[in-house]
Amino acid sequence: MTDKFEPTIIGFTCNWCSYRAADLAGTARVKYPPNIRLIRLMCSGRLDPTFVLKALSKGADGVMITGCHPGECHYLEQNYKTMKRYLLLKKTLAQMGVEPERVQLVWASAAEGVKLAKEITRIVEEIRELGPLDWPSIFSENGEVPIHDAAVEEVPA
Ligand code: FES
Repeated sequence: MTDKFEPTIIGFTCNWCSYRAADLAGTARVKYPPNIRLIRLMCSGRLDPTFVLKALSKGADGVMITGCHPGECHYLEQNYKTMKRYLLLKKTLAQMGVEPERVQLVWASAAEGVKLAKEITRIVEEIRELGPLDWPSIFSENGEVPIHDAAVEEVPA
C-alpha cells in the first residue's frame, strides 16, 4: 500500500452554471476525484476572497473557484469582479509564500459537466503534486510564527 497524498480541495460553485455542471456530471456518471467538496453560491461574484483564505487556513490544500463564462453571469458583470478578485488573491498568496496554483478559476456552463469533471481531475492532480499546504504550521492566527516552530524551540538558553 502506498501513502499517496490526497489533497482536500474546496470548490466554490455558482448556482446557475458550475453547480449544475457538477450535477450533470454526476447524473451522467462522469467520474472525478472525490477530493473536492463543493459549496454552492448564488453567483461567483458572491465569493468574498476571505472565504478562500479561510478554506486554506482551515485545512484545504487548494481551492477551485467556478462561475458562468464571461458575459453569461445571471447578475450581469459579477463574474468580472470574480476574475479581478482572483488575480489579486493569487498575487497576495504568492507574497505570503503560498503557491498561487493552489487557487484556480474555472468557467463552466450548466451544460459542461464533462469539462468541469476534467478540470477538477486536473486541479486535484496539480495540487497533489504540490503536496500538503499545512497552513496552520506556516501561520498562526495572528500571522506570527507558531510557537511550536522548531527554529524557535532550538534557541540556546
Ligand atoms: S451567476 Fe454564475 S457567475 Fe454570476
